Amino acid sequence: MQKLSSDSIKARFSRSVISNYGRFPLVVREARGVELFDFEGRRYLDMGGGIAVNCLGHGHPELREALANQMGHLDHISNLYYFEEQVRVAEEIIQRIGIGKCFFCNSGAEANEAIIKLARKFGDPSGRYDIITTENSFHGRTLATIAATGQDKVRKGFGPLFPGFSQVPYNDLQAMSQAVTGSTIAILVEGVQGEGGLTPADADYLRGIRKLCDAHDMLFLMDGVQCGHFRTGRFQSIQGS
Ligand SMILES: Cc1ncc(COP(=O)(O)O)c(C=O)c1O
Repeated sequence: MQKLSSDSIKARFSRSVISNYGRFPLVVREARGVELFDFEGRRYLDMGGGIAVNCLGHGHPELREALANQMGHLDHISNLYYFEEQVRVAEEIIQRIGIGKCFFCNSGAEANEAIIKLARKFGDPSGRYDIITTENSFHGRTLATIAATGQDKVRKGFGPLFPGFSQVPYNDLQAMSQAVTGSTIAILVEGVQGEGGLTPADADYLRGIRKLCDAHDMLFLMDGVQCGHFRTGRFQSIQGS
């Protein structure tokens, strides 16, 4: 069998995997804690954490044990049936937020598609469907979420854009307020812009958007895909200190 090397794996990628992601030239063989290792035995410090996914480090013993236990008990059975694990996660999330119910899905883009649909359904009786988002935002790679995203590079070549989105500068409450029209149904922002360059929202900005939405009977949609679930210290970035 051919000996595995970083170069041989990169060559196999170029033959068999569509190059829609711009990848760094690093081939990861193994990861432990904060360290990554390539096929040549080089060691790297992982400052990316799987785009903020592996917050506990790689191969955390408690996570491995929990996953192994779960696999020995129940793995996948679909949403056609009830199972205790799903409602337990929902209860844990609601307990931390204080109100509401959960919708489970497979990706950040799908979560944003769901809140965009929710906003459109909410606006349907009044004929409103416009959603204001922010410049430099990132909300996903589906057709609706690239229209929501305030970065030209993710939209280039995929026009015409899905209608009903406009962008204003981030952290600028006055610009947001001026952009609201009679057809606006929601405002969508990240608590911390992630892909757009790690810019946190000011607390007053978020409070101002909340008031603006209340005043105009609009929904305030938070994209916590990258900044939620304890990554800012609190459970969600919208929960102030
Ligand atoms: C703020 C934000 N929203 C949505 C997404 C899309 O998530 P996914 O890649 O899981 O579809 C991302 C991904 O980086 C993100 O950072």
